[in-house]
Amino acid sequence: MKVQILPSLLAADYGCLADEIRRVAASGADALHLDIMDAHFVPNLSFGPDMVALARRVSPGLFRDVHLMMTRPDLYLERFIDAGAQALQIHVEADCDVWQGLAAIRRRGVRSGLVSRPQTPVTALYPYVPLCDEVLFMTVNPGYGGQAFMGEVLPKIAALRQHAAARGFGGLDIMVDGGINFETAALCAEHGANQFVAGSFLFKQQDMGAAVAQMRGVCEQRLRVTG
Ligand code: DX5
Ligand code: ZN
Repeated sequence: MKVQILPSLLAADYGCLADEIRRVAASGADALHLDIMDAHFVPNLSFGPDMVALARRVSPGLFRDVHLMMTRPDLYLERFIDAGAQALQIHVEADCDVWQGLAAIRRRGVRSGLVSRPQTPVTALYPYVPLCDEVLFMTVNPGYGGQAFMGEVLPKIAALRQHAAARGFGGLDIMVDGGINFETAALCAEHGANQFVAGSFLFKQQDMGAAVAQMRGVCEQRLRVTG
């Protein structure tokens, strides 16, 4: 299971976005996480496909992982893929046909991801596992960066890892997002997560590369011990 670190652009300095994207690329991070908020599914607005296109233009080699916090992600999949999304994540709570959404993402050769809010039971994800390349557990209520990690999500991560392995999907990527720092990333790794989104924690670092390397090291060690 490969540990991946994904800085979330939501926490960047919007006064110099191109430089911030280059900073992520230079940090050795595995991907850039882009949080799309529609002011309906969550009470906040962020940015749209043009930001994904900017990331592709500025750092074409940096993988673009796009998290759609939208009531109707199905209406926007094509636009985000055309803009350069390489993984697209839709919420299981979205107001659309989740089966069709995941299948449509894969049909375009893009990695399919399914996301759940902290309060959603993990069993709601089980039927979709065969259609997912990655499953994202929100470890805060989606909508804002800089919130405190919710430890009650940890048993859901462990349950999904076990469920997926038992059904022959041992290679499923499990991602966490919200309140991630060295300590909370280590806890999530212990419970079976292998992809770590971090916004405010990584962007506030003077040396993002050192922090990415340290987070990767901590998580690899915990995954080795418990995995
Ligand atoms: C929250 C977003 C997260 C957010 C994480 O709705 O999905 O990706 O940027 O931010 P931090 O790491 O600051 O909690
Ligand atoms: Zn996110």
